[in-house]
Amino acid sequence: MKQIWIRRVGGPEVLEVREADDPVAAPGEVLVEVKAAGVSFADTMARVGKYGDAPPLPCVVGYEVAGKVVADTTSSFKPGERVFGLTRFGGYSSMVSVPPAQLYAMPDDMTYTQAAAIPVNYFTAYLALIRFCNVQPDERVLIHNAGGGVGVAAIQLAKRIGARIYGTASAWKHPRLRELGAHELVDYRTTDWVEELNRLTGGPGMHAVLDPVGGRNLKLDLKVMAPLARLAAYGFSEPVRKGDRPFFPTLRSVMGMPRTHMMTLLGNNWSIGGLNLGHLWTEGSRMRRVGEDILRAWDEGAIRPEIAAEIPFDNAAEAHRMLGERRNLGKVVLLP
Ligand SMILES: NC(=O)c1ccc[n+]([C@@H]2O[C@H](COP(=O)([O-])OP(=O)(O)OC[C@H]3O[C@@H](n4cnc5c(N)ncnc54)[C@H](OP(=O)(O)O)[C@@H]3O)[C@@H](O)[C@H]2O)c1
Repeated sequence: MKQIWIRRVGGPEVLEVREADDPVAAPGEVLVEVKAAGVSFADTMARVGKYGDAPPLPCVVGYEVAGKVVADTTSSFKPGERVFGLTRFGGYSSMVSVPPAQLYAMPDDMTYTQAAAIPVNYFTAYLALIRFCNVQPDERVLIHNAGGGVGVAAIQLAKRIGARIYGTASAWKHPRLRELGAHELVDYRTTDWVEELNRLTGGPGMHAVLDPVGGRNLKLDLKVMAPLARLAAYGFSEPVRKGDRPFFPTLRSVMGMPRTHMMTLLGNNWSIGGLNLGHLWTEGSRMRRVGEDILRAWDEGAIRPEIAAEIPFDNAAEAHRMLGERRNLGKVVLLP
């Protein structure tokens, strides 16, 4: 099989395709021939040494795949069946062995590329928007990084609920994000987004905020939150900057986070939560219900992943470059 290895901390050029022996299905697992593998921002953070959950380098990352079942020691799936699901690392491989609890049968009208773009983005967006923030039809939701894979998923799920959608993203992404369902967008790189959103809503008016940026951004979020607002924090992209050494920007970012006291939450009627999909690996049936509702949303036609690019394994560096240089609108998918 083929695998993409991160050889050491560094730029996209440290990614390398290597050949390895084909794996066998581990007891209690399903062997899948991978047809498409999703690229997540976390993969790029692992490559630059800023992702604490990643295996020690050198390693093969990748949180999600879609493909065909080769063998199943659990009889949950049939050989040849099309499946997609979460892998806790190792997804950048042309074959993977995965527990059946992490896999879902693909609907007939779903392509492998679309399927590989679903697990990380849609599970994260679903948990943040629906489980944490419990967004209601008459509420305003702010989605930061609205043009990323998770952001697009959150827009589609918020539209399904009927909420009013505000987003921050680089300006060139705005026209497409409006087509997808965002109502108001702010280019946070050139505009004071707090001032602009408070102008648009007539005061701190957000009922829910989805924040993958972290650091000081979380402090600013508090300035746009209305009474009864919920904030879901699920990322830390702020300290990832080209050429940075890992330690100081990360420390600066951690120091910039709000130290919100319980009395502040009580006084403002706010709820603040943190989310890490990678730490929910053992939450079997509770996560299964999330996956099943995401598949219902697919059947309704409410969700369709936005594919920024399909890139062959041999050109994996370009996939990472696209994310780092902010050239992706939606998901980048690797093809073995
Ligand atoms: N906790 C979890 O379980 C979980 C799960 C999935 C994702 N996440 C987090 O959610 C965030 C979004 O993930 P994703 O997969 O949707 O992202 P993505 O598709 O890789 O999005 C990349 C986009 O992020 C924006 N961005 C913001 N800060 C950036 C920076 N410092 N460097 C480069 N791009 C930056 C850029 O868009 P603009 O220029 O338009 O802003 C860029 O195009 C990441 O922080 C990721 O780690 C967390």
